Amino acid sequence: MIKDNPELIAKIRDRFAHVDRCPFQGERIFFENAGGALTLKSVVETSAFYAAIPDNPGRINPAGQGTQAVINKAKTDLALFMNASSGQFFAGESGTELLFRMIRTACVNAPKGSKVIGSSIEHPATRSAARRWADIAGLTYVNVPHDDETGLVTASHYATHMSPDVSVATVLHGSPVTGMAMDVVAIVKAIREISPECVIIIDGIQHAAHGLIDLDSYGADGYAISPYKVFSRHGYGIAWISDRMTALPHDRLIGAPEDGWEFGTRDAGSFATVSDVVSYFDWLGRQVSDETDPRARIEAAGRAIHDYEFHLTNALIKGVGNLPGLADMPHVTILAGADNPSREGL
Ligand SMILES: Cc1ncc(COP(=O)(O)O)c(C=O)c1O
Repeated sequence: MIKDNPELIAKIRDRFAHVDRCPFQGERIFFENAGGALTLKSVVETSAFYAAIPDNPGRINPAGQGTQAVINKAKTDLALFMNASSGQFFAGESGTELLFRMIRTACVNAPKGSKVIGSSIEHPATRSAARRWADIAGLTYVNVPHDDETGLVTASHYATHMSPDVSVATVLHGSPVTGMAMDVVAIVKAIREISPECVIIIDGIQHAAHGLIDLDSYGADGYAISPYKVFSRHGYGIAWISDRMTALPHDRLIGAPEDGWEFGTRDAGSFATVSDVVSYFDWLGRQVSDETDPRARIEAAGRAIHDYEFHLTNALIKGVGNLPGLADMPHVTILAGADNPSREGL
């Protein structure tokens, strides 16, 4: 357990930039993990290195081939990190931009007059894209209200509003507002039981740093993350799409490969920082387990992060020693209750 291992905590802290100081503010603890995560020092070094390379990835020269190899490696690392045995990864401007792109593509390819389903728990990124593109594509938007008491939307909430003519669905994985993780496996299953061919897109932006990602078990068609929320940096987002989604007609250059979803020249440095993040999970997995299999190490790291965040969140809510927690303060309201098993470390 990380919480019982101060030496490991010191080693972890040493891997991140600005742990106890902010260049704008001075001394501080960064507690805003709904809006970002601390950045790995390795990500900072890697970014500077690749920012200085003028070569175009893919060109037939050593730097062009070298940067392309870095991009390819990052995609292989992502498949391990997010457990994807099929489909593809690509980068965009941000998680929000990628969600718009996936939802737009799903909506304009959906049968006319069909429906788009989503929930009131979602971030505006998916809500805005689904409502806008449902309107443009002549689809009806169906809202699944979430439960305020638990801070969740569940599979049975979705099932109540599902019908066979739902062709596009959006699902939130972790909520930055309530702090809860949805049961995406159960929600996707409930959607597919009623509309098996529905294109399902998950917003994993908030969940990504707080627990594990296991795309193979979700059965979805799209999943977006924002790497600055998982120890990398701002400036890009990463999406995964299924083979089925890959094949949908989508925006691309005339003559470009049909399965390509990327726009323009790639930033090798952003991909390289993804590999830094996966290396960090691998390193952490070695510290907290004896696993030898790379995916098992990532899973061990994910569990350790989850447990430690549970410990920190409980310290805030319930107090430490004779210090009161938020739950002891009469003027404080804890969204979705003090003891909610779905709470991630938010
Ligand atoms: C669940 C969720 N979706 C989408 C976003 C938007 O992410 P970005 O600004 O990185 O595109 C956020 C940001 O907090 C989020 O928490």
